[in-house]
Amino acid sequence: MVWRLAQNPSVDRLFAAPGNAGIAQEAHLIPIAAEDVAGIVRFVERERIDLTIVGPETPLVAGLADALDARGYKVFGPSKTAARIEGSKAWAQELTARHGIPSARSRLVTRAQWEQGRGDVLGVMDAAFPDGRLVVKADGLAAGKGVAVAHDRASAVAALETCFEHRAFGKAGDVVLLEELLAGPEVSAFALSDGRDVLPLALAQDFKRVGDENLGPNTGGMGAVSPLEWIDRKTQQRIWDDLVLGTLRAMESEGVRYRGLLYAGLMLTETGPKILEFNCRFGDPETQTVLPRLRSDFGELVLACVEGNLSMYKVHWSDEVCVTVVLASAGYPGEYPTGLPIEGIAEAESVEGALLFHAGTEERDGRVVTAGGRVLAVSALGQTVAEARSRAYEAVDRISFEGMHYRTDIAARSAGQEGE
Ligand code: AMP
Ligand code: GLY
Repeated sequence: MVWRLAQNPSVDRLFAAPGNAGIAQEAHLIPIAAEDVAGIVRFVERERIDLTIVGPETPLVAGLADALDARGYKVFGPSKTAARIEGSKAWAQELTARHGIPSARSRLVTRAQWEQGRGDVLGVMDAAFPDGRLVVKADGLAAGKGVAVAHDRASAVAALETCFEHRAFGKAGDVVLLEELLAGPEVSAFALSDGRDVLPLALAQDFKRVGDENLGPNTGGMGAVSPLEWIDRKTQQRIWDDLVLGTLRAMESEGVRYRGLLYAGLMLTETGPKILEFNCRFGDPETQTVLPRLRSDFGELVLACVEGNLSMYKVHWSDEVCVTVVLASAGYPGEYPTGLPIEGIAEAESVEGALLFHAGTEERDGRVVTAGGRVLAVSALGQTVAEARSRAYEAVDRISFEGMHYRTDIAARSAGQEGE
């Protein structure tokens, strides 16, 4: 997002809190944590920032957009009330159920019920999901770790214990959603909303599992591809109309104005597309795949959302395909080391069509070192998926750091075969 904003001629100064070594090439880094709502508000007031774009979900759910809005500062990102679409999976699920938006069948259970007698909770689960196949989701924010896909009853019970006994997610796991296990390829849909009008942006596919062939634990995303030509027009239309627009209209009808980016995570099941989850922000690494294809001015689209005149805009896309491969630290998505020097960044950037986006990096003594689990996203544009893929992997081959790992099969198969 910073890379795209820096290309807008009307942007003369960009700040990023806290940023990383890549963002530092385009913006002034300020040492404020993204979650530090009060600190960011103070900075915006002191510097009289014209427009604040909130990247991650935690400050949105904590009310950063409301705090800036109340002080008269322009901000891109939903209010605390609207950010419940990501901040409370139970709220989101009940919203879709009330409005008949296709999603998984579900039941809510609570820690209070569990403490009164776990038998009642297990009874609810067994009655709704007699084969023991279900998805157990902590209601609140859990940094992408709050979802357990259980293929048998013992794993489902273990996931409930993780929330209610071990309290692995703290209060975020005091309410738990039990969901029908859906099957099919997964798709991420991005749309902009100014609170009244909606502009569908793009569909992308995120590769969530850490290993090739979709094996191993879930991650924040190990790669992405966009556009998704294999999804037929009718299905695409259903995704935008019934699921994405349907959800925004449902919120509006309940008095919740959504201003910002809505990310709908969907599964294309045999009975049509269904909602898996929502995010109240751009997704990572899908954004590194979607924004390189954008031909319209990103800054203007963002400002149109904030100022409520999105209806005046159309989005233009390049014809090219983009493929993104994430380079991760040894051990990710578990514990991982940091501070390891990264080699070959400039060499990778010189591959035709390649773009490097930093995630967990920082600069130390003039060198770029690792500073997170997902370290770099290597994107490449090409005329075909095959060309974009081969350029992305050519760039990947030029980069190295100790313990670096990545998937070798991003966008390798017809993506329709990518389901669980
Ligand atoms: P989330 O943390 O909500 O992104 O969910 C993580 C992952 O869990 C999703 O990307 C899916 O792969 C999987 N998942 C979530 N809900 C379901 C469901 N109802 N059926 C099958 N898989 C699911
Ligand atoms: N790629 C999934 C996310 O951003 O949450």
